[in-house]
Amino acid sequence: MALLEIKKLGCATLRKKATPFQDVTDETRKLVQDMFETMYEAEGIGLAANQVGVTERILILDVRPHHPESESMVFINPEIIWSAGEFTGEEGCLSLPGISGEVKRPAQVRVRALGDDGEAFEMELDGMGAKALQHEVDHLDGVLVLEHFSVIKRNLLRNQLRKLQKEGKNQTLNLKYIERER
Ligand code: NI
Repeated sequence: MALLEIKKLGCATLRKKATPFQDVTDETRKLVQDMFETMYEAEGIGLAANQVGVTERILILDVRPHHPESESMVFINPEIIWSAGEFTGEEGCLSLPGISGEVKRPAQVRVRALGDDGEAFEMELDGMGAKALQHEVDHLDGVLVLEHFSVIKRNLLRNQLRKLQKEGKNQTLNLKYIERER
Protein backbone atom coordinates (compact mmCIF):
# COMPACT_ATOMS: atom_id res chain seq x y z
CA MET A 1 0.00 0.00 0.00
CA ALA A 2 1.11 3.55 -0.53
CA LEU A 3 0.13 7.00 0.47
CA LEU A 4 -1.33 9.34 -2.15
CA GLU A 5 -1.30 13.11 -2.34
CA ILE A 6 -4.68 14.61 -1.40
CA LYS A 7 -5.64 17.38 -3.80
CA LYS A 8 -6.80 20.67 -2.34
CA LEU A 9 -9.26 23.27 -3.54
CA GLY A 10 -7.79 24.82 -6.70
CA CYS A 11 -6.60 21.50 -8.14
CA ALA A 12 -8.42 20.90 -11.42
CA THR A 13 -9.26 17.21 -10.77
CA LEU A 14 -11.65 18.29 -8.00
CA ARG A 15 -13.79 20.08 -10.57
CA LYS A 16 -13.89 17.28 -13.13
CA LYS A 17 -16.79 14.91 -13.53
CA ALA A 18 -15.31 11.46 -13.06
CA THR A 19 -15.90 8.80 -15.73
CA PRO A 20 -17.39 5.35 -15.06
CA PHE A 21 -15.17 2.28 -14.81
CA GLN A 22 -15.43 -0.27 -17.61
CA ASP A 23 -13.64 -3.07 -15.75
CA VAL A 24 -12.71 -3.62 -12.16
CA THR A 25 -9.17 -4.98 -12.24
CA ASP A 26 -6.23 -5.61 -9.91
CA GLU A 27 -5.14 -2.07 -10.71
CA THR A 28 -8.50 -0.82 -9.43
CA ARG A 29 -8.07 -2.84 -6.24
CA LYS A 30 -4.59 -1.40 -5.73
CA LEU A 31 -6.03 2.10 -6.06
CA VAL A 32 -8.69 1.17 -3.48
CA GLN A 33 -6.03 -0.03 -1.02
CA ASP A 34 -3.95 3.11 -1.51
CA MET A 35 -7.05 5.28 -1.08
CA PHE A 36 -7.85 3.56 2.22
CA GLU A 37 -4.34 4.04 3.50
CA THR A 38 -4.44 7.71 2.47
CA MET A 39 -7.85 8.27 4.07
CA TYR A 40 -6.91 6.62 7.36
CA GLU A 41 -3.66 8.58 7.53
CA ALA A 42 -5.64 11.80 7.07
CA GLU A 43 -8.27 10.63 9.59
CA GLY A 44 -11.10 11.00 7.09
CA ILE A 45 -14.28 8.93 6.86
CA GLY A 46 -14.67 9.14 3.09
CA LEU A 47 -12.54 9.73 0.00
CA ALA A 48 -13.34 10.05 -3.71
CA ALA A 49 -10.83 9.29 -6.47
CA ASN A 50 -10.87 12.91 -7.72
CA GLN A 51 -9.33 13.85 -4.41
CA VAL A 52 -6.21 11.86 -5.24
CA GLY A 53 -6.09 12.97 -8.88
CA VAL A 54 -7.95 10.07 -10.52
CA THR A 55 -11.06 11.11 -12.41
CA GLU A 56 -12.80 7.75 -12.30
CA ARG A 57 -15.96 6.93 -10.39
CA ILE A 58 -14.80 5.29 -7.22
CA LEU A 59 -15.23 6.26 -3.60
CA ILE A 60 -14.53 4.69 -0.25
CA LEU A 61 -16.16 5.12 3.16
CA ASP A 62 -15.32 4.06 6.66
CA VAL A 63 -17.62 5.66 9.20
CA ARG A 64 -16.60 3.41 12.10
CA PRO A 65 -15.53 6.41 14.19
CA HIS A 66 -19.27 7.30 14.25
CA HIS A 67 -20.90 3.90 13.72
CA PRO A 68 -18.65 1.25 15.31
CA GLU A 69 -20.86 -1.56 14.00
CA SER A 70 -20.29 -0.61 10.33
CA GLU A 71 -17.37 -1.62 8.11
CA SER A 72 -15.16 -0.17 5.41
CA MET A 73 -16.98 0.17 2.08
CA VAL A 74 -16.01 0.54 -1.59
CA PHE A 75 -18.38 1.96 -4.20
CA ILE A 76 -17.44 1.82 -7.88
CA ASN A 77 -19.74 3.67 -10.33
CA PRO A 78 -22.10 4.59 -7.45
CA GLU A 79 -25.58 5.84 -8.24
CA ILE A 80 -28.00 7.17 -5.66
CA ILE A 81 -31.30 5.60 -6.69
CA TRP A 82 -33.51 6.74 -3.81
CA SER A 83 -33.37 9.26 -1.01
CA ALA A 84 -35.67 10.40 1.80
CA GLY A 85 -35.88 12.75 4.75
CA GLU A 86 -33.69 15.70 5.53
CA PHE A 87 -30.71 16.20 7.78
CA THR A 88 -28.54 19.23 8.47
CA GLY A 89 -25.08 18.71 9.87
CA GLU A 90 -21.55 20.02 9.89
CA GLU A 91 -19.31 18.74 7.07
CA GLY A 92 -15.63 19.08 6.44
CA CYS A 93 -13.51 17.80 3.56
CA LEU A 94 -9.96 16.45 3.25
CA SER A 95 -9.54 18.75 0.21
CA LEU A 96 -10.51 21.75 2.35
CA PRO A 97 -8.39 21.35 5.47
CA GLY A 98 -9.49 23.54 8.37
CA ILE A 99 -12.88 24.32 6.82
CA SER A 100 -16.32 23.05 7.75
CA GLY A 101 -19.89 24.25 7.48
CA GLU A 102 -23.53 23.27 7.73
CA VAL A 103 -24.98 21.23 4.89
CA LYS A 104 -28.54 20.07 4.36
CA ARG A 105 -29.01 16.71 2.62
CA PRO A 106 -31.44 13.80 2.48
CA ALA A 107 -31.14 11.71 5.66
CA GLN A 108 -31.37 8.30 3.98
CA VAL A 109 -30.16 7.06 0.62
CA ARG A 110 -30.18 3.89 -1.37
CA VAL A 111 -27.12 3.41 -3.57
CA ARG A 112 -26.34 1.01 -6.39
CA ALA A 113 -22.68 0.33 -7.17
CA LEU A 114 -20.05 -2.26 -7.98
CA GLY A 115 -17.82 -3.65 -5.24
CA ASP A 116 -14.08 -4.09 -5.74
CA ASP A 117 -14.87 -7.65 -6.86
CA GLY A 118 -16.80 -6.12 -9.80
CA GLU A 119 -20.14 -7.42 -8.48
CA ALA A 120 -23.17 -5.11 -8.40
CA PHE A 121 -24.86 -4.46 -5.06
CA GLU A 122 -27.40 -2.13 -3.49
CA MET A 123 -27.22 -0.69 0.00
CA GLU A 124 -29.26 1.62 2.19
CA LEU A 125 -27.44 4.13 4.33
CA ASP A 126 -28.50 6.62 6.97
CA GLY A 127 -26.79 8.83 9.56
CA MET A 128 -23.13 9.55 8.96
CA GLY A 129 -22.97 6.93 6.20
CA ALA A 130 -25.66 8.67 4.13
CA LYS A 131 -24.06 12.05 4.66
CA ALA A 132 -20.56 10.86 3.75
CA LEU A 133 -21.74 8.92 0.70
CA GLN A 134 -23.55 11.96 -0.72
CA HIS A 135 -20.51 14.14 -0.03
CA GLU A 136 -18.27 11.71 -1.95
CA VAL A 137 -20.71 11.25 -4.85
CA ASP A 138 -20.67 15.05 -5.16
CA HIS A 139 -16.87 14.85 -5.50
CA LEU A 140 -17.26 12.40 -8.40
CA ASP A 141 -19.47 15.01 -10.09
CA GLY A 142 -16.89 17.77 -9.52
CA VAL A 143 -18.97 19.35 -6.75
CA LEU A 144 -17.39 20.50 -3.50
CA VAL A 145 -19.11 20.81 -0.13
CA LEU A 146 -18.53 24.56 -0.39
CA GLU A 147 -21.35 24.78 -2.88
CA HIS A 148 -23.73 23.62 -0.17
CA PHE A 149 -22.61 26.34 2.26
CA SER A 150 -24.56 29.57 2.61
CA VAL A 151 -23.29 32.68 0.80
CA ILE A 152 -22.59 34.27 4.17
CA LYS A 153 -20.49 31.30 5.22
CA ARG A 154 -18.53 31.37 1.96
CA ASN A 155 -17.86 35.07 2.39
CA LEU A 156 -16.57 34.48 5.90
CA LEU A 157 -14.19 31.84 4.56
CA ARG A 158 -13.00 33.99 1.63
CA ASN A 159 -9.38 34.44 2.76
CA GLN A 160 -8.93 30.80 3.78
CA LEU A 161 -10.39 29.65 0.47
CA ARG A 162 -8.11 31.93 -1.52
CA LYS A 163 -5.09 30.45 0.23
CA LEU A 164 -6.23 26.85 -0.40
CA GLN A 165 -7.05 27.68 -4.00
CA LYS A 166 -3.44 28.73 -4.52
CA GLU A 167 -2.07 25.58 -2.85
CA GLY A 168 -4.31 23.33 -4.91
CA LYS A 169 -3.35 25.04 -8.18
CA ASN A 170 0.28 24.13 -7.52
CA GLN A 171 -0.49 20.43 -7.10
CA THR A 172 -0.02 18.08 -10.02
CA LEU A 173 -3.22 16.82 -11.61
CA ASN A 174 -2.29 13.15 -11.60
CA LEU A 175 -2.03 10.35 -9.14
CA LYS A 176 1.05 11.04 -7.09
CA TYR A 177 2.63 8.90 -4.41
CA ILE A 178 4.14 10.71 -1.50
CA GLU A 179 6.83 9.77 0.96
CA ARG A 180 5.71 9.34 4.50
CA GLU A 181 6.96 12.05 6.79
CA ARG A 182 7.93 9.97 9.77
NI1 NI B 1 -14.69 15.97 0.58
